[in-house]
This record gives sequence, structure tokens and C-alpha cells, in this order.
Amino acid sequence: MIERIKLNNGIEMPMEGFGVFQIPEEDCEEAVRTAIEEGYRLIDTASSYQNEEAVGRAIRRCGVPREELFITTKAYIQQMGYENTKEAFEGSLEKLGLEYLDLYLIHMPFGDYYGSWRALEELYKAGKIRAIGVCNFLPDRLLDLCYNVEIRPQINQIERHPHYQRKEDLEIMKELGVQPQAWAPFAEGLKGMFGEPVLKAIAEKHGKTSAQVILRWNVQQDVIVIPKSVHRERMRENLGIWDFKLDDADMEQIASLDKNCPSMLDTRKISEVKRVYDYLENPVLTSL
Ligand SMILES: NC(=O)c1ccc[n+]([C@@H]2O[C@H](COP(=O)([O-])OP(=O)(O)OC[C@H]3O[C@@H](n4cnc5c(N)ncnc54)[C@H](OP(=O)(O)O)[C@@H]3O)[C@@H](O)[C@H]2O)c1
Repeated sequence: MIERIKLNNGIEMPMEGFGVFQIPEEDCEEAVRTAIEEGYRLIDTASSYQNEEAVGRAIRRCGVPREELFITTKAYIQQMGYENTKEAFEGSLEKLGLEYLDLYLIHMPFGDYYGSWRALEELYKAGKIRAIGVCNFLPDRLLDLCYNVEIRPQINQIERHPHYQRKEDLEIMKELGVQPQAWAPFAEGLKGMFGEPVLKAIAEKHGKTSAQVILRWNVQQDVIVIPKSVHRERMRENLGIWDFKLDDADMEQIASLDKNCPSMLDTRKISEVKRVYDYLENPVLTSL
């Protein structure tokens, strides 16, 4: 049974969801329907994933009432600024075929995201979005945003896995009342994540898999997870984290795996910020 967590505005959301990054439009409806059949209720997409229409079809055809689902999408860098974000929101809502969103996020801390935030606040107050938040905000930007807005973000969705544990980020989010959500909890399987001997040993001890240990490690620290898989067995495996507990020794061992090293995106580096803007100019040549 997936546990739920209360956000700073009193809204409750599932602590585990299903991410659809890199699932092509043509496969996405089936993947989301399978995930919902398996028990996922939180679905995480983004305008930049180009699969919102497929997610919308899955929502309409899955047989689960809309109010039992928790649907997230995001506004990308080109959609920053007050007017752009309002337009982007309407576009996403239309593609998803929805009347309201459960969570709408600013995807990247670039461009006029303050203008965008005003749009999000307005849409939130109008009842079109139940919770609003950001992604990839490092502590300094998050703090600055919180000091300058009327409504603080409910969520900051960040890359987080055993190689990039982000202790300071979690501390500042706790102080600010912003709920952390981990994207790429498996670091997309890169850099030998699933083969980490420490994770394998802990998994064996509990009769679980490395993937399950990673997800459990997150939720035990009150971090929401949104793993992605296109395989039913893995979707099921990734849900099998609610019937065991990691002990203090397990948590300490996992803490020792931290390399302070993002696998996907490191906006602390100038070269990475340039890569983001290069991608926007020519999305075919590079990938994010
Ligand atoms: N806000 C942001 O900037 C941002 C950025 C990236 C991602 N996200 C969100 O976070 C979600 C998750 O991140 P992600 O998709 O990048 O990476 P991820 O969930 O860390 O990893 C997905 C990869 O792991 C594999 N996998 C899944 N479960 C597995 C298991 N039990 N055993 C072995 N392999 C397994 C998947 O393969 P198969 O599919 O072949 O099973 C896929 O290759 C995304 O889908 C997206 O919704 C947000």
C-alpha cells in the first residue's frame, strides 16, 4: 500500500509514482495504463517529454476515477514568463484532457521563472492546480524564491540517488517546508547503480532487489520517488517497497555511497548550463 504525505498546503499525495520521461508517445498510453493497473496513482510527465496526450488517453481509459489519480506536468524553459506559462498550462491541460492538475512544476531554474511563478500562484488560487512547485532548484535559488513569493513551492523535484544524496538540499527544504521528490532515483541505471555491492548485500539481507532498496531508502527519508519502467514486472517490483524497513546500519552503509555526483544534469557547472541552452537551440544534436 503506497503511503501518502501531506504537503505544506495540506494536500496529500502518494509517496511513490510513475515517471514517463523517455517513453515515446506511441508506447506511453500502454505504459501508463499498465502502471495504473499495477497500483500507481501518481503520474509524472512534462511538456518537454512530448507524451502528455498519451498520458491523457491512459487517464481517460484506465477506469480509475480522476480524483483518485495525482497528475503532474511541468513548464519547460521556453515556457517561462507570466504569459508564456499561462499559455503552456492551458496547452498541457488540453493535451492531457483534464479540468485541473494535481501538481504543476517549473521544470528548470532558468529564464523568467519569477514571472512563471506568478502565473502558477494565480492558477493555484483559481483552483486549476492543487499544488505548485519547482524542479532542479539548488538551495540558493530555492531560498531566494521562497523569500520573494506569496505562495511557497509545495515540491522541489530533484535528481537524487545513492551517488548524489544531497543532504544540504534536504535540510534546507525541510526548513522551508518544501517537499523533496526524487527524479532518476536509479540514476537511470547509469554508473553501475544496480550493481553496487553495498546495495546488493542489503537487498539480499531483506530478500529484496537493489532497486527496491534504493526506493525504500528515499521514502524512509520522506522523499517521494517516481521511478520509470516500461516493463510490468519492474513496475511491480518497484512498488514492492512498502512491506519492509531498512535499519540504521543499512542507512549508514548507503550514506557511504554518496559521491556528490549527479549522473544526469549538474547545473552547478557552467558547461552544463550551456548544454541546456545548446539543447534548446538544437534539440536534435544533443540530448538532456
Ligand atoms: N524534473 C526533472 O528535471 C526530471 C528529470 C528526469 C526525470 N524526471 C522524472 O523522474 C522519472 C524517473 O527518472 P528517470 O526515468 O530519468 O530514471 P530512473 O527512474 O532512475 O531509471 C529508469 C531506468 O531504470 C530502469 N529500471 C526501472 N526499474 C528497474 C528495475 N526494477 N530494475 C532494473 N532496471 C529498472 C528503466 O528501464 P526500463 O524502462 O527498460 O524498465 C530505465 O532504464 C522520469 O520518468 C521523470 O518523470 C524528472
